[in-house]
Amino acid sequence: MTDRLKLGLAGLGTVGSGLVRLMAARGSSLASRAGKPIEIVAVSARNKRKKRDVDISQFRFVGDPVALARDPEIDVFVELIGGEGGVAKEAVEAALKAGKHVVTANKALLAHHGASLAALAEKHGVALNFEAAVAGGIPVVKVMRESLKGSDISRVYGILNGTCNYILTLMEREGRSFAEALKEAQAEGYAEADPGFDIGGFDTAHKLALLTSLAFGTRPAFESVYVEGIETIAPADIEAADGLGYRIKLLGVALRTESGIEQRVHPTMVPKETAIAEVDGVSNCVAIDGDFVGDVMLIGPGAGAGPTASSVMSDLLDIARNHILAPFATKAKDLMPYKKAQMRTHEGGYYIRLSVFDRTGAFAAIATRMADQGISLESIVQRLASAELPGVHRRREGTPATVVMITHQTTEAAIRKALQSIARDGHVEAKPQMIRIEKL
Ligand code: HSE
Repeated sequence: MTDRLKLGLAGLGTVGSGLVRLMAARGSSLASRAGKPIEIVAVSARNKRKKRDVDISQFRFVGDPVALARDPEIDVFVELIGGEGGVAKEAVEAALKAGKHVVTANKALLAHHGASLAALAEKHGVALNFEAAVAGGIPVVKVMRESLKGSDISRVYGILNGTCNYILTLMEREGRSFAEALKEAQAEGYAEADPGFDIGGFDTAHKLALLTSLAFGTRPAFESVYVEGIETIAPADIEAADGLGYRIKLLGVALRTESGIEQRVHPTMVPKETAIAEVDGVSNCVAIDGDFVGDVMLIGPGAGAGPTASSVMSDLLDIARNHILAPFATKAKDLMPYKKAQMRTHEGGYYIRLSVFDRTGAFAAIATRMADQGISLESIVQRLASAELPGVHRRREGTPATVVMITHQTTEAAIRKALQSIARDGHVEAKPQMIRIEKL
């Protein structure tokens, strides 16, 4: 490295443009923060001439990001292209092999190929930094890679997708439809190029796989994450949760169990009085439970140009100061294989919403099926359609009614068996809704 840190920036979308703006705004103060000037010397983007709100005419343009990754003039390759494979992977590998440091916001790439890329970075003695890949502007990678290494971590969990949290918040607080809320999140630049990654839970799963590795010293194992998205959350669930004292959040959770590590992403009921329930809109939150440190929680902006560019800059400052650590805190060769805990052994409380044919014996049959699996109910409520008056028995036998149950602690296997039996009995008219309750 010379007396300046010279960047090759690939990808000029939301985050890339945000970084150009941040560097322009910091101006010469960046050099004193970094100990040396940091400058972009070349950029690469799919379309050179696209209308942008940042001026890129001052930078050398390189059409091929892989060529930029190997460019002799650059010290750091900043990969803001995205995608688990393809040109992003090719370019990052090329940069590492050419002895360039890499800074990336690409959670999909690292969730799938993190262990081999970390090994490559270590082999060539360069950094592979990814603060911007997890929870936008929250400096959680640095905290987990460095600050919390004095503790053994038992659980890491959080709200890791700004788009989903934004959608759920608008649905809950403003009664917006799912489609309206998604459109707004896209307009704000929070959503991924394919919003299916956000609402399907996969973006959260990518980020969770990285946090799991940092927490437990295991190889990132995205393929072992159990994933459910928010597409099935209905206004009826949001309303029922509210009445029961909960909010619904899409959580990513990784925890050590006796049988291995549980990694799961799913809509989750969180009690209204907890801090995580108050994390609204595009905000993210990461909670880490450690032995000596206790419970730590970080809350902040989870997506968007400014926060994500701020995290990219934090990685660049570390490189400028020559503060270079193993990407996943543990040396790549010492990362342990991931031992997966099966989802059927998951233990917790459950919220169940059933659309039940309102006929004599249905309620009792449902309660019996739950009891057959040893499931104890904390509450069971039948909700009439709003036109029906409680106590006035004018309902026609067989009309569907909503039954909402909250269970005490049980296992996923027991819940699934009970719901299968209830469906087989023919009392429900639609697929049951099941939302896990996280112990906080
Ligand atoms: N689509 C992501 C989100 C962007 O909504 O959180 C940041 O990774």
